[in-house]
Amino acid sequence: MKLGVVGKGGVGKTSLSGLLCQAYVARGKRVLAVDTDSNPNLAMSLGLDEKTANEAPLVPRKLVVGLGDGTLSPGALLKEYGLPTPSGVTLLHAMRIDQAGAGCSCADHYMVRSLLGTAIEEEADVTLVDMEAGLEHLSRSGGTLAYADVLLMVMEPTHKSVMTAGRTVPLARELGIPRIYGVGNKAKGEKDVELFNRLSEEYGVPLATVVPWDPDVPKCDRRGGPLLAGEAQPVRDAVERIMAVIDSEPTPVNAGERDALLAERDRIDKRIAELQQT
Ligand SMILES: Nc1ncnc2c1ncn2[C@@H]1O[C@H](COP(=O)(O)OP(=O)(O)OP(=O)(O)O)[C@@H](O)[C@H]1O
Ligand SMILES: [Mg+2]
Repeated sequence: MKLGVVGKGGVGKTSLSGLLCQAYVARGKRVLAVDTDSNPNLAMSLGLDEKTANEAPLVPRKLVVGLGDGTLSPGALLKEYGLPTPSGVTLLHAMRIDQAGAGCSCADHYMVRSLLGTAIEEEADVTLVDMEAGLEHLSRSGGTLAYADVLLMVMEPTHKSVMTAGRTVPLARELGIPRIYGVGNKAKGEKDVELFNRLSEEYGVPLATVVPWDPDVPKCDRRGGPLLAGEAQPVRDAVERIMAVIDSEPTPVNAGERDALLAERDRIDKRIAELQQT
């Protein structure tokens, strides 16, 4: 399963990504986490120390993952660039700040797109992409998450945040992502739960669950490193609910529509590959 986590800046993408990855590891899954943020910090949530994270080799720009000429197979990519973490999750840094100054990040995003388009399932049961904030990588031209099976749109209890998720839904559908859910994070009490329910309905966001605000999460961020066993239990419970929803829902897109989207996606992929060679 390939899972993308998106949302506005600071909504809790990385915190929830870290916990989701660990919960899948606890279920015995092989988990690959991809951090696309130019200032990556998923490493810390997965228990990796800063020095090891910073010294990891950078995935070369313009690298395309696949099985054809000039591409690197997913297995070889992970062997060379995958970082084992104490949490049991393998981490891939798609981009780091020391690369970010060196031009546009499109090539790095294309690497992630091509990785998701391969048979990455042979290497990882769950591949989770913690996306950098913003919507541009969901557009057709960006399309980093074109091959994701599930999209989680993390929201805060604000009107703007839910509205942003509402705007994300059609973009994600157009990309062909079959399962799209909103996750209401940082809810402080019933009023916030009610806000998520009401606004999600209003903006057409399929709400998977509401995650409570929990003081252990910022406490952990201040301390640095991962959440410890027993910390943030209500958040962990919510993560289990998200996984249950992912497990239970059928794919809500009709087959003909999806085939047409896949054909269009292949066409765009070919065009991008052609452009990359020029
Ligand atoms: N459920 C929660 N309860 C309390 N605080 C939370 C919760 N989830 C996230 N936070 C806090 O919100 C802040 C942002 O979290 P996080 O870094 O996970 O967000 P992000 O969406 O990945 O941010 P960015 O867009 O910068 O990558 C952190 O201070 C974190 O501790
Ligand atoms: Mg983040």
